[in-house]
Amino acid sequence: MNNIPRHVTIIMDGNGRWAKKQGLKRIFGHKAGVEAVRQATEYAAEKGIDYLSLFAFSEENWNRPQDEVMGLMELMVEAIAGETKTLMKNNVRFRVIGDTSKLPDRVKEKISATEEQTAPNKGLCMIVFLSYSGKWDIIQAMERYMKDDTLKNSPVNQEKFESYLSTAGIPDPDLLIRTSGEQRISNYLLWQVAYTEFYFTDVLWPDFSKTDFQKALDVFSSRERRYGKTEEQVNNLK
Ligand code: FPP
Repeated sequence: MNNIPRHVTIIMDGNGRWAKKQGLKRIFGHKAGVEAVRQATEYAAEKGIDYLSLFAFSEENWNRPQDEVMGLMELMVEAIAGETKTLMKNNVRFRVIGDTSKLPDRVKEKISATEEQTAPNKGLCMIVFLSYSGKWDIIQAMERYMKDDTLKNSPVNQEKFESYLSTAGIPDPDLLIRTSGEQRISNYLLWQVAYTEFYFTDVLWPDFSKTDFQKALDVFSSRERRYGKTEEQVNNLK
């Protein structure tokens, strides 16, 4: 296989249904989901992918029952604390993107500590989208853009606008994977997926294995990305 995507992003869906199928509470689905995160991160590093980003908690998820939200936050702290050593050992840089002002202090502190500690790592960059939504991102970018006096009275500049998105400096995803059979974007990255390839699988997130990841990479490898050009134009460039 050639053509390895530089940035793979995953909407990890189906934890609740996985738990229900086993007759367990939803939180056990999220726990099993953390193990799938570990597997996916390991595989992304093995494959030489530069960025693996994961949609872990959306703005809308704050509306879930309080015990599930708290359980997820607890799980996140545990996972981050428990995995920092492994991240260091594997040269993985860890980043969180989203409206983190809404997160409990303990979660914020754990995130900052791990971000700082892993910042010098030059291997895979693992990004966790937490308390994130695509519309929030565009609006916060717009607010900051409008405050930039150097841009006053000139036409809107796309590159400058992008530099205010929370993903500034990170290449747009080449491949977006969504598990559990749902085929929608759910207010995740909106601006950034303009030319992203989408891959949907019925596998529930806790069951998403390295073999499933490989299948997605194989499908990606077989796709032709034209960025609005004709097939002939693309072939002439090869
Ligand atoms: C979607 O399944 C999953 C989530 C909202 C949470 C995902 C979070 C984790 C797996 C923890 C990640 C931890 C780290 C450190 C990245 P769902 O609950 O919407 O499932 P359902 O659609 O079957 O109900």
